[in-house]
Amino acid sequence: PGSFDPVTLGHLDVIERAAKIFDQIHVLVVHNPAKTALLPVAQRVALIERAIVDTGCEGEIVVTSWSVGLLVDYCTEVGASVIVKGIRSQVDVAYETPMAIVNRNLADVETIFMLPDPAHAHVSSSLVRQVASLGGDVAPYVPKAVADFLQNG
Ligand code: PNS
Repeated sequence: PGSFDPVTLGHLDVIERAAKIFDQIHVLVVHNPAKTALLPVAQRVALIERAIVDTGCEGEIVVTSWSVGLLVDYCTEVGASVIVKGIRSQVDVAYETPMAIVNRNLADVETIFMLPDPAHAHVSSSLVRQVASLGGDVAPYVPKAVADFLQNG
């Protein structure tokens, strides 16, 4: 789960790694009211789907969105027992740990932290949003489908 506004190469790396471990994964776009959105949720879903196809990512991968309640409600609805999050640094650990504990307390759903390739350690959607909105080149940080979309619409 995440905002994926937009999906980055770091996200895609975690998606590929998780798809190798689990029989089925769900990439879930969740609107985060704490953040100012760049792309509509449906567009984020479409770009993730496109990036997964372009990468040739293997495994059973569902891409969808959730806006009607808690993340764990979605997990319960689809029978998911594990949440996967990518961790770039200690800052991410500090941000993710309370959510992982709350999600476990709410619905007995475990969170697993995965380490993306360090090459993506500095990449974040918020940085991509800022660079893109000021006219910079985001191609090194995002899947080609996202770079094309942000450049050409
Ligand atoms: O990419 P983000 O913005 O860091 O993702 C955060 C997200 C959307 C995964 C998180 O805010 C979330 O799970 N929101 C859904 C609402 C919810 O379940 N809140 C309680 C989680 S502790």
